[in-house]
Amino acid sequence: MRLNEIRTPALVVDLDAMENNLGRMASFFRDKPCKLRPHFKNHKVPLLAWKQIEAGAIGLCCATVREVEILVHHGVRGILLANEVTSEEKIHWLADLSRHADIIAAVDDERVVSDMACIARKKRARLSVVVDINVGLNRCGVPPGEPACRLAKSAIEKGLRFRGVMGYEGHLQALPPGEERDHLCLIVDKSLVDSRTLIEAEGIPVEIVSTAGTGTYAEAGVYPGVTEIQAGSYLLMDTIYVNRGSTFQRSLTMLVTVICRPEPGRAVVDCGMKELSAERGLSTVKGLDGVELKALHAEHGLLELRNSAAGVKVGQKIELWVHYSDATVNLHRRMYGVRDGEVEEVLTIEH
Ligand SMILES: Cc1ncc(COP(=O)(O)O)c(C=O)c1O
Repeated sequence: MRLNEIRTPALVVDLDAMENNLGRMASFFRDKPCKLRPHFKNHKVPLLAWKQIEAGAIGLCCATVREVEILVHHGVRGILLANEVTSEEKIHWLADLSRHADIIAAVDDERVVSDMACIARKKRARLSVVVDINVGLNRCGVPPGEPACRLAKSAIEKGLRFRGVMGYEGHLQALPPGEERDHLCLIVDKSLVDSRTLIEAEGIPVEIVSTAGTGTYAEAGVYPGVTEIQAGSYLLMDTIYVNRGSTFQRSLTMLVTVICRPEPGRAVVDCGMKELSAERGLSTVKGLDGVELKALHAEHGLLELRNSAAGVKVGQKIELWVHYSDATVNLHRRMYGVRDGEVEEVLTIEH
């Protein structure tokens, strides 16, 4: 099948660009003690997870227990749930999954630690945890230092397998490269590694210090004491990172069809917010000058055409850059992997 034969709207991966990103990130980590554990939520495609592992990743990160389950079912054996779970039902689910893979869950709460330990004991499961540290994103996590150390000790006392610490600095991801970002990254990495040192001073081994995303992997990946990096977007690449100086290539587009050409300066395409996230801004158009996406309705995208784009016709297929892969892939069941205009593979997005 050729690209323009794909039924629209559809997600399309430029395989050359994606493989280039895969290889570049893998070569960054090849000779370093720090390793890559990419985030699965960015693509939710088990086949891509395996490509990342084959390229050297030590496992995957997840945001939900369902994502952990998908990876377990697809044979991935090293999984970090870089997010909190609290309900007993989800802890049971995690404990069951931990029989099949090395699953490590983030914790930031004493009660959850107790519940996890109790459920793991009853089920004779071995649950591993990392203490989640708030490194400035102000989402989840305990403060660095003593509070992190206290929770680590408590996890061990209660019978959980303590593996280390994590802290995601999401607030730094979109900063432009430069001294300020470097400085803020150093503060984050230092606070994680200082917490590690404090825990180790209690005689507790710390195997994992996990952090960073696509915007900060290069700084964190060489900081002594950081052991793994959670970057995910680098593979498909969100426009927000390209605009902030990242040199990974965008590889994910939305193929759409022009369904209406009501007047010279306007066109409408068959893709709206039910298919494409505008959370991080409206998509730009790939390879067509003078065409701008102005609005997304539920099932329609409204394009403005300047003179040079007057040739856009009803039935024509065009590609929109996906600005935020995380929030777009979960609206779809598959991505079409395309090389030289030909569909080479269909990648299943798991839900
Ligand atoms: C906890 C966590 N780790 C890692 C990432 C991956 O970061 P990026 O997509 O910027 O590579 C995210 C993304 O939101 C995240 O929430």
